Formats: sequence, C-alpha cells, structure tokens
Amino acid sequence: MNTLFRSAVIKDLPALLQLEEQCFTTDRLNRRSFQWMISRAHGQLLVAQRGEHLLGYAVVLFHRGTSLARLYSIAIAAQARGNGLGKQLLDRVEACALEHDCAYLRLEVRIDNPGAIALYERNGYQRFALVKDYYQDHADALRLEKRILRRGSLSDRRTVPFGGAAVARPVCTMSQKECRGALRTPTGASSLATGSKAT
Ligand SMILES: CC(C)(COP(=O)(O)OP(=O)(O)OC[C@H]1O[C@@H](n2cnc3c(N)ncnc32)[C@H](O)[C@@H]1OP(=O)(O)O)[C@@H](O)C(=O)NCCC(=O)NCCS
Repeated sequence: MNTLFRSAVIKDLPALLQLEEQCFTTDRLNRRSFQWMISRAHGQLLVAQRGEHLLGYAVVLFHRGTSLARLYSIAIAAQARGNGLGKQLLDRVEACALEHDCAYLRLEVRIDNPGAIALYERNGYQRFALVKDYYQDHADALRLEKRILRRGSLSDRRTVPFGGAAVARPVCTMSQKECRGALRTPTGASSLATGSKAT
C-alpha cells in the first residue's frame, strides 16, 4: 500500500496524540501544541498515512526573516520503523524548508537516542553543540545542522541566527527550561521556534 504524505489537519489530533504517547516518554507534545502547529504555527506539521493509519509525523518550524528552519519533532509508529519512513519524512521536511527559502535545518536529539542520531548523520546532519540538561528528565541534547540549500543559489542571501555553519558556532546558552514553557503556553511562532522538544 502506498504511503501518503500530507499536511496534518485537526481531524488527525487523536492519532497524533496516540503516536506521541507511543514514541516519547518525556517532552511530549499535547493537544494544544499540536492544534497550534496545525492551525497557527509558522511551520508545517507533515504526516505519513497508509490506508486509515497515521504512521508518522514531523514538525518543521521557520524562523521569520532568517534562512534557518528547525526540525522540531519527528516520530514513526513502532510497527512502521526501519522501513525508510523516517528518512522519507525527513526528505519532505527538507523540501518544505527549501520552499520556505531556508538554507539550513537544525535539530536537537537526545544523546541517548542512537537510532535517531544515525538517521540524521546518515542524511548529512552534523553535530555542532552539546546542550546540557535540555529535556524534562534532564538528559542532554546534541544539536545538529545540515545545509540544505546549495551554495551560490539565488535565494541564499538571508541570515542565520545563533551561529550557522558559515559563522562561529557558540554552544547555545539559552535556558532550556525557559524554552520548554513556550510549548505549553503557545503565544507565538517566535517563542515556539526556539523551544525545546524531544527531537
Ligand atoms: C528515529 C525514527 C524517527 C527513525 O524512523 P525510521 O522510519 O525507523 O527510520 P528509517 O527506517 O527511515 O531509517 C533511516 C536510517 O536511519 C538510521 N536508523 C534509524 N533507526 C535506527 C536504529 N534504531 N538504529 C540504528 N540506525 C537507525 C539508519 O541509518 C537508517 O538507514 P539504513 O536502514 O539504510 O541503515 C524512529 O525510530 C522513531 O520514531 N523513534 C521514536 C521517536 C524518536 O526518537 N524520534 C526522534 C527524536 S530526535
């Protein structure tokens, strides 16, 4: 059966919440966060559907006025893992970020999540920072980045905040506990775009 990749709609909420429950033990997105991402966020919530089943999702957020996109979360249902679905969603996230004129994609991943780290590194993401005490359970995160826009492209002219590949890369000094609140009480795209997630 073919897999359909599409933008999430409000009707997907129950399946998204179920997936979140199954895939993450901490830093879970709640109904309100998903709702906000579907309807108001400056970003895209993509889902992978096969038949009636929602098998995965990915959230990408954009940073207004910059060429930076952020993979905020990605998850594949346990029974569908290891078949290339995560990679396919990642490819679509990158395409979506390119459509939004982004040159770089960034993400955070738990240092104790070797499967996800392998997925990213095999797809060209490079480590550039270690963020201590990033997650609700105090686990550390690796911050990774990939340049998705070819150098010299006409749209390659916007800025990258917080030290992109082209400039010095300070380790993030942002308080992650501060950021985490942004998701629980979404107030706007910019606060969410810097918040933490299990990705
Ligand atoms: C991480 C996750 C999204 C990967 O999805 P997936 O559909 O299983 O990944 P794919 O089948 O597309 O794998 C693509 C590549 O990633 C790597 N990879 C994925 N899962 C892996 C694992 N458990 N161990 C080692 N490598 C793995 C492999 O390099 C693989 O390529 P290969 O099969 O050619 O070797 C999925 O395991 C998941 O949802 N985990 C729970 C939620 C989570 O951790 N999300 C990421 C948060 S950062």
